[in-house]
Amino acid sequence: MPVSVEPTSVDPSQNGSAPANTGVETPTTASAGARTSAPAAEALRPHAEDAFADELAALAAQDDRPRPTRWKLSPWAVATYLLGGALPDGTVITPKYVGPRRIIEVAVTTLATDRALLLLGVPGTAKTWVSEHLAAAVSGDSTLLVQGTAGTPEEAIRYGWNYAQLLAHGPSRDALVPSPVMRAMAEGMTARVEELTRIPADVQDTLITILSEKTLPIPELGQEVQAVRGFNLIATANDRDRGVNDLSSALRRRFNTVVLPLPESVEAEVDIVSRRVDQIGRSLDLPAVPDGVDEIRRVVTVFRELRDGVTSDGRTKVKSPSGTLSTAEAISVVTNGLALAAHFGDGVLRPSDVAAGILGAVVRDPAADRVVWQEYLEAVVRERDGWKDFYRACREVSA
Ligand SMILES: Nc1ncnc2c1ncn2[C@@H]1O[C@H](COP(=O)(O)OP(=O)(O)OP(=O)(O)O)[C@@H](O)[C@H]1O
Ligand SMILES: [Mg+2]
Repeated sequence: MPVSVEPTSVDPSQNGSAPANTGVETPTTASAGARTSAPAAEALRPHAEDAFADELAALAAQDDRPRPTRWKLSPWAVATYLLGGALPDGTVITPKYVGPRRIIEVAVTTLATDRALLLLGVPGTAKTWVSEHLAAAVSGDSTLLVQGTAGTPEEAIRYGWNYAQLLAHGPSRDALVPSPVMRAMAEGMTARVEELTRIPADVQDTLITILSEKTLPIPELGQEVQAVRGFNLIATANDRDRGVNDLSSALRRRFNTVVLPLPESVEAEVDIVSRRVDQIGRSLDLPAVPDGVDEIRRVVTVFRELRDGVTSDGRTKVKSPSGTLSTAEAISVVTNGLALAAHFGDGVLRPSDVAAGILGAVVRDPAADRVVWQEYLEAVVRERDGWKDFYRACREVSA
């Protein structure tokens, strides 16, 4: 019979929420999921809850709708945080996700039920990004994260042992190293599992008991950790990995699946790229480069046409290269271009600043992709009005 677990003290400064009747101590040393000591302003990439702390605080202050137990915000406020909007006092909430409103509403609602959330989609459709922001808005902490790989062991999802302690004193709570999922269960928080379908099937199945029984047995101690209210789990999985380690149907039934689509139009994608590039540029202290939107539109257009296999007017078929040309690649090509323009150019984003980046993104396989790129260059880019400079810049870097 499982022994009931004594409550333990948790440093409230670590996550801002009082622990429930749980047995899992929040580790004070930096381990997976533990907050690090780097000040948010110093971190190269601050966590969502730090980067957008002002917006989250404004939402929490003005949110008078009912909040599920241990949620920092109401479902409505979580959706507003993700989709953007204006608050009654005039605070502007920037959109984090650009796409159909309903998708985010379904995702947020799922988190308030007893089913876990699976974000599915092709690469670069913001699965990881949405998962991080959802966890930040719901629990105020997006760091309870398990990164799925082919080598992810069961301990990463359940718990491990501090072997020095284990050898010195035998199995005890002190010797146990909780996984991020175990901590989330104990504290009623949101856990995240990245790339679920890369995890071997038998390890994935560890999640079945957690998600259906809401408990994590610790047979070595004759104890268990029961999930408290507020616990839920967000997993992401890539469409491309389908067939690698497919989810078992038993596990799939524990999830509500939300498919994140590619941006529906050039405009939407240009909007996403511009916003992210601006944020990344600021965090890297890149000088602001004005009027880059034409170049951004060009990068997005090239990527969309190569991805779709047809030009935007629908007239010319083109071949698709082997690699992924998602919004994420467009963001990094433009960010690189901005850095070039800022450091070595005249501060204006020009075709020559993005050409090399585009070539690098498109030509992954030096033989096949180069042919695809040359054909596109000659058949589409050369003929297009206003694209002469870009054509020349591409020819220069392709030579
Ligand atoms: N619809 C969108 N709204 C806002 N940002 C987006 C959107 N689509 C892509 N992005 C941006 O693209 C970048 C990449 O997203 P992310 O890494 O979350 O993709 P992913 O779906 O997890 O990809 P992968 O399958 O490779 O893990 C992020 O910076 C994100 O801001
Ligand atoms: Mg991802």
